Amino acid sequence: MASVLSQAPVGTLTPGALSPERAVPDHIERPNYVGLAEPPKYTGPDAFDATTVARIRRAGQLAADAMVATGELIRPGVTTDELDAFAHDYLVRHGAYPSCLLYRGFPKSICTSVNEVICHGIPDSTVLNSGDIVNLDITAFLDGAHGDHNVTFLVGDVDQESQLLVERTKEAMMRGIRAVKPGRPINVIGRAIESYARRFKYGVVQEFIGHGVGPAFHTGLVIPHYDAAPEYSQPMEPGMVFTIEPMLTLGTRHWDMWEDGWTAVTRDRKRTAQFEHTIVVTQDGSEILTLPSAG
Ligand code: MF3
Ligand code: CO
Ligand code: CO
Repeated sequence: MASVLSQAPVGTLTPGALSPERAVPDHIERPNYVGLAEPPKYTGPDAFDATTVARIRRAGQLAADAMVATGELIRPGVTTDELDAFAHDYLVRHGAYPSCLLYRGFPKSICTSVNEVICHGIPDSTVLNSGDIVNLDITAFLDGAHGDHNVTFLVGDVDQESQLLVERTKEAMMRGIRAVKPGRPINVIGRAIESYARRFKYGVVQEFIGHGVGPAFHTGLVIPHYDAAPEYSQPMEPGMVFTIEPMLTLGTRHWDMWEDGWTAVTRDRKRTAQFEHTIVVTQDGSEILTLPSAG
């Protein structure tokens, strides 16, 4: 059904209540940062052999399957904590550790970012209402590798301005992905994203970035989503694995942090959307590693 509203509301979100910490069965391998205030420094390579890429692909495919299944629960009345509970059980049932859980102390298994939340929203008692938009960011750690994926969903009947923002943010991510080719500088990715976003006068958030991913959740390789030239001119190489995860806004690109130290909201409380894939650089372009298994 077509939306009756054309304009997006300005947000008034406040934190909800957290549920108790979820358990992960003993037989599931934990990433090395669990129990530490911050992850041990990653000193490995940015480009991986085919065996390592295959492990990242399996983790990424599981994250994408969890995304499809969890996304099916999104409807008016569901809480973000219920989405976290389902995604947690899905990953654990398939032998994976939910990478967000206890990463730098993050208290839940996925990120749920509603309306004006740019990223890293913490699942809690917040109830989703018709007209909201919500991003789920799901990362799976399986067989020593992380696959990182996020999608913004519509809840019930959403105004046209928000629908367009969500659609165009996905397209911005895809344009960033299509800019990937070995030999090109990393900064072509952000240039493709920013020049598309500018057509619609959307803000492009700069401080949260794409990142190398694989044996570590964040390897240290930085992928800006804006035109950072002449910085970030390092050439892309076959076997490099990283995320592309632009955050676009209806107003300002600047943000405030909630007191929880995680939830980043637009400074003007206008809406924002994000999409994320983990990709590998191939001989002639790229392959997306966070696609759901067929069927
Ligand atoms: N998955 C997020 C990313 O895209 C990172 C979340 S970190 C967490 O990089 F601690 F908030 F979970
Ligand atoms: Co990421
Ligand atoms: Co992510």
